[in-house]
Amino acid sequence: MGGDVAAGEAAPGEVAAEGKHVSHASRTHVITHLPGDGVGPEVTEVARACVDAVAPRHDFHVDWRSCSLGGKHYLATGEVLPDAALEELRRSDAVLLGAVGTPDVPPGVLERGLLLRLRFELDLYVNLRPSKLRAGVGSAVGKHELSDLDFVIVRENTEGLYAGAGGTVHRGTEFETATEESLNTWAGVRRCVRYASQLAQARSGRLTLVHKTNVLTHAGDLWARIARDVAAEDGVELSYAHVDAACLWMVDDPRRFDVIVTDNLFGDIISDLGAALTGGLGYAASGNLNPDRTGPSIFEPVHGSAPDIAGQGLANPAGAVLSASLMLAHLGEDAAAAELDAAVSSVLAAGEPGTTGEWEKELLGQLANGGTS
Ligand code: IPM
Ligand code: MN
Repeated sequence: MGGDVAAGEAAPGEVAAEGKHVSHASRTHVITHLPGDGVGPEVTEVARACVDAVAPRHDFHVDWRSCSLGGKHYLATGEVLPDAALEELRRSDAVLLGAVGTPDVPPGVLERGLLLRLRFELDLYVNLRPSKLRAGVGSAVGKHELSDLDFVIVRENTEGLYAGAGGTVHRGTEFETATEESLNTWAGVRRCVRYASQLAQARSGRLTLVHKTNVLTHAGDLWARIARDVAAEDGVELSYAHVDAACLWMVDDPRRFDVIVTDNLFGDIISDLGAALTGGLGYAASGNLNPDRTGPSIFEPVHGSAPDIAGQGLANPAGAVLSASLMLAHLGEDAAAAELDAAVSSVLAAGEPGTTGEWEKELLGQLANGGTS
């Protein structure tokens, strides 16, 4: 932790220290800010300001670094994730990521080359995606009470259909064949289910496995056996839903769910549904976690770079601030994390601000008195 690198020493594209002031706080967290493209810089600036606003009250200090990777950087340099930048990122305690992607970068370059590579290299095997309905936001389904909708999706984040297994043969002929294989290892599934089961212990004691065991019988059987064993060991109540039925119940009867554990692609899909049910992607937070802490975890709003509204001051920073809240909790700053979460709820309850600047003003106003007015 901490670091003595002087400001501006790193070359563009590498991680640069921003250390400006000496702090006397008892704890220092080295956090790399990777703003990325589109609305990423706008929303993460607000999240950063919120973190810095609560830090002194909780006796910690953030040694912010910055990293310029993303679509703009790729177009300017051809670099997606240079090894040197990855090594610098490994030296942080956490990474706050805005969003990467610009319309002129071909699909897959940044998704596989940057986002997924980071998830794999840093062993970010859990993608934590909470869905909580807050007062003041409209659910895509108007009928839910606030208390009906508060669940967390634990998405496996390094295996499944995202692992990159498969390929294309006979390309360009009428027999061209494309395969994508879902990889599910006993150890990889088990560690993800273990994380979810312990999260369930800390919440309601209820865990739901979401899969498609009636069709994906090989992977489904592995997931089901592991979930049964781990839930029994941890003393949590396990239920099961096929992924199609889970979508229906998330809309119709979300009280069924508290902690959901699922594979990589199912988790990707159902977490967007969870976002739609809780106000939209603008409010959706995520943490790509390395629960074993062998490297930094990455926190990012789920909304993407939204190039259509970038640079207009219209982006909703709630997803970024809530991601920063997950980051603070992961760093052990639970009280500060709770303040960021409460501040978002308070601002929403008072009437959603229309611009990024108003959001920031309202959030900082709330945080001046601990997140709740
Ligand atoms: C997400 C995104 C990513 C994913 C893409 C951009 C690679 O959709 O974080 O949910 O599929 O995981
Ligand atoms: Mn997604």
